[in-house]
Amino acid sequence: MTTKTIYPGARKDEPLILGIESSCDETAAAVIRGRRLLSDEIISSANIQAQFGGVVPEIASRAHTDAVDEVVSRALQAAHVQKEELDAVAVTYGAGLLGALLVGVSFAKGLAYGLNKPLIAVNHIRGHLAAAYLEDPALEPPFVTLLASGGHTAVLVTETPTRFRCLGGTLDDAAGEAFDKVARILSLPYPGGPHVEALAREGKNCVPLPRMLKGEGGYHFSYSGLKTAVINYVHTKQQRGEEWSAADVACSFQHAALDILVKKTVEAARETDCRTVTAGGGVIANGYLRAALTDACCAAGLRLVLPAKRRCTDNAAMIAAEGLVQYRAGNFAPLSLNAQAYLPLE
Ligand code: KG4
Ligand code: ZN
Repeated sequence: MTTKTIYPGARKDEPLILGIESSCDETAAAVIRGRRLLSDEIISSANIQAQFGGVVPEIASRAHTDAVDEVVSRALQAAHVQKEELDAVAVTYGAGLLGALLVGVSFAKGLAYGLNKPLIAVNHIRGHLAAAYLEDPALEPPFVTLLASGGHTAVLVTETPTRFRCLGGTLDDAAGEAFDKVARILSLPYPGGPHVEALAREGKNCVPLPRMLKGEGGYHFSYSGLKTAVINYVHTKQQRGEEWSAADVACSFQHAALDILVKKTVEAARETDCRTVTAGGGVIANGYLRAALTDACCAAGLRLVLPAKRRCTDNAAMIAAEGLVQYRAGNFAPLSLNAQAYLPLE
């Protein structure tokens, strides 16, 4: 946010912050005190969206409107906190589905105004980066982060709590998007990632698929070629009437999509001299990726801080965590805060 609102009283060491998230199909609220997570509630419309094979923005907005008051009440109750005790209200203002974001933003503005407490505008992607702070209260920059979600795939270096540098990202599709598209090709339900992962466990890494930008390409990734190779493989098998295994395709795709992320992340830590690696975003919930990243960091002598699976996919705890970073930097939003469908990563 460009406009800086000053709250002279907002200088507590361990502030009580409510986070609200509504950028896609999860309506979420969480309360933290300092870096201690007190509650983390989600009401998801993913089951409804699954009937349509993806998120329908209008349905998501309506579901958020139904759920936002309930999820915030649950979060306050679970944290044993009265709303009057809050020190700030942090909310995702972008990027995401505009109508969906507006529900959370409007609710947060009303709450902050009613309580006369500071409002904090949170960039959803920065929220994914901040999830690691809750996992390890001692975590401090510098660290390298692997970010892999439905909209972003990048390797970044966090230099100070509020400043990070992107070393490279995807040139086309994001990793999560590729999982969702491959799931469709394999007739698996939305959201595709967890289903591809489950099927991959029954398969072998034996389908020849292109390995992207190995060795070259800096820290850039490209998923569209891999996705096309999966489509071509499946269509060719179907047209020829040959036998093929969806589990082998899922397993081979998973290796091709994720091994490179692990390799580049460890390379980035080495190159930037960071001894700590973190990760965030829905794809980081993938068990194969978590194990591969753990092994690679261990072999390279790096400390890995992996957020719990539940805090890799969309949640409000990470929004509260980034809210804390902004609170400590004195970055508060005016009540004219608006939602933004697109926000740059940096
Ligand atoms: O971070 P996220 O919840 O939402 C965005 O900000 O995009 O990420 C959602 C993405 C989806 O593409 C979903 O298929 C993928 O994360 N995902 C996974 C897994 N769980 C979620 N991808 C691979 N394996 C998983 N277990
Ligand atoms: Zn997300």
